[in-house]
Amino acid sequence: MRPIGVFDSGVGGLTVAKELIRQLPYEDIVYFGDIARVPYGIKSKETVIRFSIENILFLLKAQVKLICVACNTVSSVALPVIKNHFKVPIVGVINPGAREAVYATQNKRVGVIGTRGTIASRAYENEIKQLDPQVKVMALSCPLFVPFVEEGWVEGEVVLRVAREYLKPLKDSRVDTVILGCTHYPILKPVIRQVLGENVTLIDSAKQVAMEVKKILAQEGPLNKSRHSKHEFYVSDNPEWFSSLAQRFLGQPVRNVKKVK
Ligand code: DGL
Repeated sequence: MRPIGVFDSGVGGLTVAKELIRQLPYEDIVYFGDIARVPYGIKSKETVIRFSIENILFLLKAQVKLICVACNTVSSVALPVIKNHFKVPIVGVINPGAREAVYATQNKRVGVIGTRGTIASRAYENEIKQLDPQVKVMALSCPLFVPFVEEGWVEGEVVLRVAREYLKPLKDSRVDTVILGCTHYPILKPVIRQVLGENVTLIDSAKQVAMEVKKILAQEGPLNKSRHSKHEFYVSDNPEWFSSLAQRFLGQPVRNVKKVK
């Protein structure tokens, strides 16, 4: 059976792969992490589009039946262009996350946090406004969160102080729902929750996108009927570095990572 392709700028997309594995345990997955060129969050739109097309061409060689764009930055700035370029179904993270947020908010105030690229694109904001023009969106970037997570600083006084500083405008604007609009942010959920409080709903786009993939495969097929699944991991640089971080994102060790290009 043909696998699902997943790509990200690096290791963070494994939070999406984790959900895909949880919700679709019998599907084969080919994951590509472009760690040679990470981070995408500070790159121009043209560059992110070019990288994305190259990543998709790599996945297509593995005969993938659907491509899941795990990266929020790619989904924000490149999705319309890349969807036009290819016949294979391509699922991004913006629409599923925005839909869930619009559904969850009671006071119609939604916060979005992401990389600089994601926030500057206003992709979440536009999607939310289309779904419900009444919803007020407060969007802000938290650039230090990605390196914190990659360095393993996911709890403690330093990250808590940075989170308090970043998230203050969200607290002040009384949002009741916040989209974690970056692959790395679900790892910081406990800290973000501590800062924003129990009453704010945190939307994890990884969960929503896996549900979307499941829905598309159930409708358009084919779902894998076999009870054995194979997960393959490719990177554009340093497989050892990827393996050393992978467990934090995937919740299980990743061995046999292959370098391509
Ligand atoms: N994967 C990126 C995202 O979700 C975060 C890391 C990067 O900037 O490349 O936006």
